[in-house]
Amino acid sequence: MQFFSHRFAARTAGVNPSAIREILKIVAQPDIISFAGGMPAPELFPAEALRAAAHEAFATPEKTLAALQYGPSEGYLPLRQWLEAQLAAEGIQAPGNNILITTGSQQAIDLVSRIYLDPGDEVVVGNPTFLGALQCFNGFQAKIVTAPTDAHGMKIEALARILENRKPKFIYAIPNFENPTGNSMSEDRKAELYSLARVHGVPILEDDPYGDLYFGATRPSTLKSLDHDNEGVILLRTFSKVLSPGLRVGYAVLPQEVQTRVLPAKQSADLHTTALAQVMIHEYLKTGALEGHLSNIRQVYHRRRDLMLAAMAKHFPTGCHWTKPDGGLFIWVTLPQGLSSAALLEEAIARKVAFIPGQPFYAHGGGENTFRLNFSNASEANIEEGIKRLGEVLRQALLGLGAPVA
Ligand SMILES: Cc1ncc(COP(=O)(O)O)c(C=O)c1O
Repeated sequence: MQFFSHRFAARTAGVNPSAIREILKIVAQPDIISFAGGMPAPELFPAEALRAAAHEAFATPEKTLAALQYGPSEGYLPLRQWLEAQLAAEGIQAPGNNILITTGSQQAIDLVSRIYLDPGDEVVVGNPTFLGALQCFNGFQAKIVTAPTDAHGMKIEALARILENRKPKFIYAIPNFENPTGNSMSEDRKAELYSLARVHGVPILEDDPYGDLYFGATRPSTLKSLDHDNEGVILLRTFSKVLSPGLRVGYAVLPQEVQTRVLPAKQSADLHTTALAQVMIHEYLKTGALEGHLSNIRQVYHRRRDLMLAAMAKHFPTGCHWTKPDGGLFIWVTLPQGLSSAALLEEAIARKVAFIPGQPFYAHGGGENTFRLNFSNASEANIEEGIKRLGEVLRQALLGLGAPVA
């Protein structure tokens, strides 16, 4: 007699563990050069500064209490105030009660889904888009409507047709250095997207984990900075990519009515995000060290991107195409039709190199000939060697197709 298996909620059927996290388990062996995860460079974690911040978190009775006791569901007030000032400097007005500290931005996607999505509700996403968001929307039995994209994000005319014919609960967008393609919306596209959504009264869930990892002169803007009345956009940010994903701290900038509705969902999920991590991050931010750290990781990631692009140009056969992102962590590769990146991954792992096949990033299938490469996590020597090995795998595969290989 099975006590458990026939009692699962219907919404859990067909929701599988993330394909990425399953691959990451396989490629975690130390002798594999992995371009798979979206992980920061471990040698660049500001471990000493965070150790000092952890020490500071216990330096007074007030901070010790805040770090160890149950805390407010909205998050640690000094951290929210610091973020409020930071956002104001970017032109985003977010008086403290509109900021919610979340357990990574993954939780924020989940919380927003919880309060907006009934089974069958529609959500518009780019195609491809972040797998963790697709997994979440599917888990709430949403109907995912894909908007076609080009190198600047969702195509506005196609999106306009979707919004004329459907009533989605929200549009999920990653305007800056998106996961998985590395592409960014142009400033014009951002303005067009914002006005179109506004005209149709559809809110935007803006996910911006990578905006601080820009290689140009300035930080790219957000849709939220266009949202002067704080009515049309929920902005999600995280410390995962800029500081440490293990701390699991992110934040959402929410319209007031959303904040009111989301708090019970946050309480039901975890009461509040780990207080010690929040106090530590606030102590770290107070020292002013983040700017220097960011400028350091931007420089290193920029160099790694350059190295990876140069190695790809050298080792990848003709017929393969890829994006040239101006920031973030990812390059997106498109192979000639007929090649399956999932099948090639097996070959690649046999040669001790790994990537993430692209198909899981497509809500309704497709993209079998695409894959994602991460350039932040591997050393410079491993980037050259790993791309060389991948180039060999691709050449073999093209020969197998009978294609001329240059
Ligand atoms: C677009 C996007 N959103 C959200 C997340 C989740 O990040 P966090 O670690 O803050 O939960 C990621 C992580 O890869 C991401 O790429």
